[in-house]
Amino acid sequence: MTHLLMVESWVGAMGTLLPRAVADAGVEFTFLTRRPEHYPESLPDGSPHPLRRGRAVVTAETNNPDAAVDAARRIDAEAPIAGVLTSCDYYLPTAARIARALGLPGPEPEGVEIACDKSRTRARLDRMGIPGPRHATAPVADLNRLRAAAETVGYPLVVKPTDLCAGMFVRRADDLPTVEDAVAELRGFAVNARGQHRSPVVLLEELLDGQEFSVESWIRHGDIHTVGVTDKSLGGVSGFVETGHMFPADLPAGDRAVLVTAAEAAISAIGLDHGVVHTELRLTTFGPRIIEINPRPAGNQITELIKHVTGIDLPRVAVELALGRDPAAVISELEDDGARPRSAAVRMLIPEESGIVAELHGLDAVAAHPAVASSVFKATGHHTGAGVDNNSYLGSAIVVSPDVTGARPLAEELLSSISVTYSEVSAR
Ligand SMILES: Nc1ncnc2c1ncn2[C@@H]1O[C@H](COP(=O)(O)OP(=O)(O)O)[C@@H](O)[C@H]1O
Ligand SMILES: [Mg+2]
Repeated sequence: MTHLLMVESWVGAMGTLLPRAVADAGVEFTFLTRRPEHYPESLPDGSPHPLRRGRAVVTAETNNPDAAVDAARRIDAEAPIAGVLTSCDYYLPTAARIARALGLPGPEPEGVEIACDKSRTRARLDRMGIPGPRHATAPVADLNRLRAAAETVGYPLVVKPTDLCAGMFVRRADDLPTVEDAVAELRGFAVNARGQHRSPVVLLEELLDGQEFSVESWIRHGDIHTVGVTDKSLGGVSGFVETGHMFPADLPAGDRAVLVTAAEAAISAIGLDHGVVHTELRLTTFGPRIIEINPRPAGNQITELIKHVTGIDLPRVAVELALGRDPAAVISELEDDGARPRSAAVRMLIPEESGIVAELHGLDAVAAHPAVASSVFKATGHHTGAGVDNNSYLGSAIVVSPDVTGARPLAEELLSSISVTYSEVSAR
C-alpha cells in the first residue's frame, strides 16, 4: 500500500482532517512524533483518534531536523515512503527537508522557511517590489533597538512574533509603553508549545487598515491554482482574534481578482512552488497588502467551508500533492448535482472573560438548526482564559446557505443566541 510520512500534527481540526484525507486517498501513513502523548488517543465519541490509525507511530526528536531526516530514512528502509506531510506549522520546514533528502515530491525548502518566518517573508516581498506595511525588527531583549524600530514604523503599529501562529502574542500598540509590554510578554514565551526555542526577534509592522481575507491556492510544478477567497471577521481582546469566516468572501468580482493576483504574486515571490497555500491579506485604502503566507491548508475549518461549497477538499489536495499526483484528477471527478450550498460560514464562540465554564446555554437549538452542518463546543468544567488568540475558542458552528452571502449573518445570529455562565472567575 502507498505509504506517507506524517511529521507531527495539529491537535485541533486539521489533526483529524488531514488523516481523514490520507484515508480517502487510499493510502496509509506512519506518524512521526517526538511526543506521542501530546496527541489524544481517542475522539470525543470514544473512537480511536485518526492520528492513531496509521501504520505505526514512531518516536524521534523531530525538533532536530537532522534527527527527523534520519528517522525518515529508517522508516523508508522498512516501508518505502511516497510522500511527506504535516499539518503543524512548526514542522513545515522539517517536512520539506525530509522530502528533499529522500528525493520525494515537495516544495523548495527555502520557500517554506521564508513563509514560516514573518520577518523573512517581509524582507523577500520588499526585495521583490511587492508593497507591504512599513516594518522593522528588534531583538526582544534590546530596548534601545526596540524603541528605534518603533520610531521607524510609527504608530499605530502591530507587535508580532516572527514564528508563531493562531494570532498568539499579536498586539496593536499606540505608544511605546504598549510595545514594551507586548514585547515583555513575548520575552516570557521563549519556547513554543512543541518545546522549540523561539526566535529572539520581534517584528513591528505598520497597522494596515481594511477588511481581511484569505486566498486559498494549491501549486504544482510552480503553477498556482486558486480555489477562492475567504473573508474573515475579527474580534477578541486583541481585535485580531479570528471570530468567523465565510466562503466565498462577500466582495465584488473586481476586488476578488485584485486579491487573487496579489496573493499569487507573493507566493511566487517567496519561492513557494509546491503544496497547498493559505495567504492572508487586507484590502487597504492603498490596495491589497499581504499579512502572511502559510504553506499549508487553511485552518479554523476554512477547508470544510470550501468543501461544502465547491466539493474541493484541500487536505486531500495536500495529500495528492505530497504524493506527486495531480490534484486536478480528483477535482475533476467531483460531481455537482446542484444541491451544494452557495455559501458556508464558521462562527467561533469567544470567551468574554476567563474562568471555568459552568454552562453553555442554547447549544441544542444551534445543533438542531437545519442550516448548521456541524458544531462543536467545550464541555462544562473547561478552563478558559480571556479571548486573546485563536486558541481560546469555546466552540464553533458551521452554517451553510443557498444564498451566496447568506451563511455568515445566519451563523452570527445563531452563535449570538448562545450564552455562557462561569462557575469561577479569575482576574485577568
Ligand atoms: N500589519 C498588520 N496590520 C493590521 N493587522 C495585522 C497586521 N499584522 C497582523 N495583523 C492582524 O493580526 C492577525 C494575526 O497576524 P498574523 O501575521 O496572521 O499572525 P498569525 O501567524 O499568528 O496568524 C492577522 O490576521 C491580522 O488581523
Ligand atoms: Mg495569520
